[in-house]
Amino acid sequence: MGIPYVETIRTCTGDEVSELSELMACLHRYYEDRNSQTRDRCTEATVPRECVASARDYISAKRAYGFFAGDQLAGYITTKYLGEEHHNFPNSIFISELYVRPEYRRQKVGSKLVKYVLGMEFPKEYTYFSVTHSPAEESLTKFYTDLGFTLQGPLPSGNIAMVAERV
Ligand SMILES: CC(C)(COP(=O)(O)OP(=O)(O)OC[C@H]1O[C@@H](n2cnc3c(N)ncnc32)[C@H](O)[C@@H]1OP(=O)(O)O)[C@@H](O)C(=O)NCCC(=O)NCCS
Repeated sequence: MGIPYVETIRTCTGDEVSELSELMACLHRYYEDRNSQTRDRCTEATVPRECVASARDYISAKRAYGFFAGDQLAGYITTKYLGEEHHNFPNSIFISELYVRPEYRRQKVGSKLVKYVLGMEFPKEYTYFSVTHSPAEESLTKFYTDLGFTLQGPLPSGNIAMVAERV
């Protein structure tokens, strides 16, 4: 069945600070409430100030990209440039955050956001993409493998490291 809305993927703008910070707060709670029943609820009454600051920073750096279902921000992805001094992923484009609202999951929104970033232009000194996730989130290993990432093994922190070549 098709998705009953017009979908657009694009760089988030200053008008979207509030919606993006709300989703960032949902992602933070998702990590914190690992064993809670409310983990997948995404309605934030109070959005922490650091999420608003983070949304502003990513938007002004033009490194936050949103999947819009009609007018609603259904999910987002952010990237960071890691320089040559980075201990795990030198000279890479790091996928720092990826989140899809629970009601839009398993409809390829997350895959489309990752593909959008993989297809973007970046300065040539950043030679590959990198991402990490908790070993407890086994489905993410498959998710990223299907998108062309390969395993780099666990980091000292225990997190799973994955990388993908630039296209
Ligand atoms: C991870 C996340 C972004 C995936 O978004 P999504 O839009 O549901 O992903 P897609 O629909 O593109 O999934 C593509 C494939 O990945 C795999 N996959 C994704 N989520 C899965 C899950 N929860 N369990 C098992 N497989 C999963 C499946 O193979 C899926 O294909 P299928 O639905 O045809 O079986 C979303 O679940 C999310 O926001 N999770 C919470 C935050 C998070 O973990 N972020 C990642 C940080 S690295």
